Amino acid sequence: MTDINGRVAFITGAASGIGYSLAKTLAARGAKVMLADKSAENLLQAEDDLRNTGADVASVVCDVTSLDSMKAAAQATLGSFGKVHIVVNNAGVPMGGKPGRIPMEDWRWVLDINVIGVAHGVEVFTPILQAQGEGGHFLNTASMAGLMGQAGVAPYVASKFAVVGYSESLRDEMLADNIGVSVLCPGYVKTGIHSAMFDRPSLKATIDEPAKNKGYKGMDKLIKNGMDPDAIANWAVECIEKNQFYIFTHPEIRDDYAARSAAILSDFDALIDDGRFSS
Ligand SMILES: NC(=O)c1ccc[n+]([C@@H]2O[C@H](COP(=O)([O-])OP(=O)(O)OC[C@H]3O[C@@H](n4cnc5c(N)ncnc54)[C@H](O)[C@@H]3O)[C@@H](O)[C@H]2O)c1
Repeated sequence: MTDINGRVAFITGAASGIGYSLAKTLAARGAKVMLADKSAENLLQAEDDLRNTGADVASVVCDVTSLDSMKAAAQATLGSFGKVHIVVNNAGVPMGGKPGRIPMEDWRWVLDINVIGVAHGVEVFTPILQAQGEGGHFLNTASMAGLMGQAGVAPYVASKFAVVGYSESLRDEMLADNIGVSVLCPGYVKTGIHSAMFDRPSLKATIDEPAKNKGYKGMDKLIKNGMDPDAIANWAVECIEKNQFYIFTHPEIRDDYAARSAAILSDFDALIDDGRFSS
């Protein structure tokens, strides 16, 4: 998508963090933006803040885990702006725990938001983009956790691997309709994401404010020292303009990824050396 000016962008998880920064950046490039988030209060604040910068902005409360909610948000976007071209499936939550001690309701919670939420965005908006016939772009927010395993946050990693694999699969399928696809894979970014750790079903009813304020096993420190979300958003929007598929943000992660790739190739080589399945 080379020209963002005058296009319409729909962004989930847009009331804060990376989603809000993406909205700001897209608006600064001349896009009209529909902010979607499950938090009505934060959403109104975000809409006000963005409008005060001169942006053409609207907002809609949307829970990405609900197909009906996503459909209503799409209709609200068309109602406000008439069209939609850029769909940012960004809403997400963190989730960790030790294997054998993770309640299945928490597993379902993280997969519902981080994976099914993205699928809802793609399923609802693809026919709209196709019918418009003006091309478009999907930006799906994954994570560095979608590229390699990480102990302690296995459910989050599983959800983000799904987003990367899903996005890779969509890339070729969207070509015929001139719809680009990108997957954003950041390392730690300075946002409020760590607080959502306490929204998981098994904790939500019992956790108290002092416990929340202590943070979650140091994750909050990593996030607080993370990259500036505005810098991530600027780079991501430049990558949309170049139709770049993988959007990485932390150069130092390349070495870890290279080590993972080398380990995979080494195990393939062991199979080839063994020779038992060779034709
Ligand atoms: N912050 C990081 O270090 C980091 C790193 C890699 C990837 N990410 C990913 O970036 C994305 C944005 O996270 P962030 O860091 O900006 O966090 P954030 O908590 O600031 O923003 C996430 C937003 O998503 C919204 N949200 C949560 N559940 C929702 C639902 N069911 N429906 C609609 N909206 C919902 C929240 O209300 C919030 O406004 C997530 O997908 C996250 O996994 C974050």
